[in-house]
Amino acid sequence: LGIAILAIDGPSASGKGSVAQRVAEVLEFAYLDSGALYRLTALAAQRAGVGWNDEHSVAQIAQSLDVRFENERVLLAGQDVSAVIRSESIGVGASQVAAFAAVRQALLARQRAFATKQGLVADGRDMGSVVFPDAQLKIFLTATAEVRAERRYQQLIARGESADLAAITRDLQSRDERDAARTEAPLRQWHDALLLETSGLNLDQVVECVLSSWKTRM
Ligand code: C5P
Repeated sequence: LGIAILAIDGPSASGKGSVAQRVAEVLEFAYLDSGALYRLTALAAQRAGVGWNDEHSVAQIAQSLDVRFENERVLLAGQDVSAVIRSESIGVGASQVAAFAAVRQALLARQRAFATKQGLVADGRDMGSVVFPDAQLKIFLTATAEVRAERRYQQLIARGESADLAAITRDLQSRDERDAARTEAPLRQWHDALLLETSGLNLDQVVECVLSSWKTRM
């Protein structure tokens, strides 16, 4: 294709989003937050009164999602839902609808459309395995469950939300288990992905690490 693509996959709260966004800024690439599409699908289903277990109806909703990404904001049917889709309950819904093949299929073309000549940094669970198998660089970003729960906890506190570390740890664990156990695009380190264990690193260090891997690849 000749399009520069950097794929970053990994479990919940591994820091993928922050890292991918910063790397995209530095490289002046577009950024795809694929998890947001699953979150938007879960939210749109909820608003339409469709159950997260109804594969057929949820897939239709995914197919016809009216979404716009504007800088930091995400608009669903013209309404700013940036904060709403970040809630833990929508995260759980996202991981339920993401287990359905028809839903993943419905979101595939939409994700690939983010790849333009400008270049793309994409983050999710199956960026390197399914959506962009030809990506020049694939990274599997992870951290221990404790570190990830702590990061998510600090993120919620910083936003002024109430947070319960034990509940977050449980939630992350069950979400990761569901994401890894499903047959459709399960969460796992792809064979040609570079493993980046970030437990002892801060955001700047991880960004530096990704950028230097990218430079040596290109
Ligand atoms: O990355 P984020 O936590 O926003 O993703 C929410 C959920 O969406 C994940 O738990 C996962 O089940 C699903 N997802 C996915 N494939 C992606 C991105 C997200 O299945 N590429």
